Amino acid sequence: MITVVAVSGSRRERSYTKKSLQVVLDAVDGGDVRTELIDLGTADLPLYHPDIDEQGDSADLKKRVRDAEAVLLGSPVYHDSYSSTFRNFHDYCSKDEFEDTAVGLVATAGGGSYGATLEHMRSTVRGVHGHTVPEQVGIRRASRKYDGDTLTDEGIRARLEELGAAVVGEARRLHPEA
Ligand SMILES: Cc1cc2nc3c(=O)[nH]c(=O)nc-3n(C[C@H](O)[C@H](O)[C@H](O)COP(=O)(O)O)c2cc1C
Repeated sequence: MITVVAVSGSRRERSYTKKSLQVVLDAVDGGDVRTELIDLGTADLPLYHPDIDEQGDSADLKKRVRDAEAVLLGSPVYHDSYSSTFRNFHDYCSKDEFEDTAVGLVATAGGGSYGATLEHMRSTVRGVHGHTVPEQVGIRRASRKYDGDTLTDEGIRARLEELGAAVVGEARRLHPEA
């Protein structure tokens, strides 16, 4: 069984990041693949403190990531990088969570630029030994790609589905026993 956990780094209830991650999860869910979404907007995750081992939901969230064969990470673009919500979660996690884990990246922008955000996510995930697949999805002008909760851009949907397939494929390569 392959478990894919998606982590959404937006606090917005109607987050495009969260909706986009759900599109990926829906595409891969079923058969021997099970999926879960972690919405950091509803998690109790105080600002990381290096003198305190665990706070709020941190132990539970880390276990869910540690137990997963694949992790999708999503962040809104904030000032050409990722959100503080995403970074705070990231600071709690280490190689213990990401070693031998397939990782896929999603960034959603209000404007037109998401490249730096994805690069920052890629390089910081490397720091915790995640196996980030080359496929990644950046969504510019995210609000124009959705009608309510529905993704209306079929090109973006296809790329999100390709990302899901790539991450599950990498998870199977890393965990042939799963
Ligand atoms: C603090 C802050 C900084 C932002 N910086 C950028 C930016 O640098 N470039 C951009 O295109 N959009 C920027 N945005 C817009 C968000 O990327 C956009 O609204 C995104 O779709 C939000 O994702 P969400 O719906 O998952 O929260 C910013 C928004 C906020 C709140």
